[in-house]
Amino acid sequence: MIFDPVPKESRKDFFNREEEIERIKSLSSPITLVLGFRRTGKSSVIRIALNELNFPYIYIDLRKFEEKGYASYKDLILELQKEINRLVKRFPSITGFIKRIEGVKILGNEIRLRWGGDKRVSISSLLESLNDWAEDRVILTIDEAQELLNLRGANLLSTFAYSFDNLRKVKIILSGSKMGLLYRYLGKDNPKSPLYGRAMNEIELYPFNREKSEEFLRLGFSELKINFDKFDIVYENLGGIPGWLTYFGYYYYQKRDLSEALSKTINTAIGLIREEFNNFLKTRAIAKDRYVTVMKTVINCASWSEIKRALEAREGMEISDSEIYNYLNQLIDSSWIVKKDDKKYCPSEPLIAKAFS
Ligand SMILES: Nc1ncnc2c1ncn2[C@@H]1O[C@H](COP(=O)(O)OP(=O)(O)OP(=O)(O)O)[C@@H](O)[C@H]1O
Ligand SMILES: [Mg+2]
Repeated sequence: MIFDPVPKESRKDFFNREEEIERIKSLSSPITLVLGFRRTGKSSVIRIALNELNFPYIYIDLRKFEEKGYASYKDLILELQKEINRLVKRFPSITGFIKRIEGVKILGNEIRLRWGGDKRVSISSLLESLNDWAEDRVILTIDEAQELLNLRGANLLSTFAYSFDNLRKVKIILSGSKMGLLYRYLGKDNPKSPLYGRAMNEIELYPFNREKSEEFLRLGFSELKINFDKFDIVYENLGGIPGWLTYFGYYYYQKRDLSEALSKTINTAIGLIREEFNNFLKTRAIAKDRYVTVMKTVINCASWSEIKRALEAREGMEISDSEIYNYLNQLIDSSWIVKKDDKKYCPSEPLIAKAFS
């Protein structure tokens, strides 16, 4: 069902995005980036592409470490271990390649990876052995990869660069809803980064415009044989983020009541947005109130000096320009706000504005 509010696995439940899925499937660079605001369908397009490509793959979702604020090397290795064991069930021949690596132990049909001590497993050598094993391609996918910025005890950038330059069969797919953070992490344009200058296959999922939102709802409702024509009201209230439109369709399907479905969608969205914003604030506790003030000030868009004035008025003292730039850049990097052509700062989508009003 198109309005099923979970990441989709196949195109039959998925609307549009054909071009984006094909571009992911092209694997035209050793590293593919799938970017887009929250709930634009990144995880879905990646899963659909992986299912259609039918190459062996590892899929790790770092979302769960967002709340904790960091992931340790152990966390990452345990996730990899789970995925490698899943692969080995399907392709037992991997074991022969992987068992020679330091930090790998075979216990019957199970593979154990050592995450601590001086003999811990290295992710580069795991990728190397997968590269040796693979006939054609093997894919490493890391969803919400900007969380790697908070990885403790290791740095994957040189692993990625090594794989990019040497492991022909390994393809890496990274997704990020905090696009600025992901770019900053990868440092493609930073001469000091191991990935400097590498051309990546980049795909960005934009929210639907008014027409596409209507088409999406039309398709979902026709699948359910429901008559619906209040497309404009929905778009004006929710905007074009596919995930929110999916919730709307799902709630409308349950009760067939427009205003109830709208308010349930808004409440769900606001709940999720606030929870995510609290995660954002966790690592920025000292400036917490200032970030909230900025968000409240930009609800209907605001200029730099309006934001500065609002911050200073709240505290009754001067706040330096560099501090203000820093708050705005961090909010932009994590996709909470965007800077428009007229130099005004705005919430990156309408429901973020609602979450702060
Ligand atoms: N084009 C689409 N057709 C049908 N459903 C979609 C489409 N795009 C997104 N969805 C739905 O929207 C929701 C969010 O999609 P998904 O989880 O794939 O996005 P995401 O960008 O990974 O989100 P998040 O930022 O939360 O990780 C899911 O319920 C998904 O089924
Ligand atoms: Mg996702």
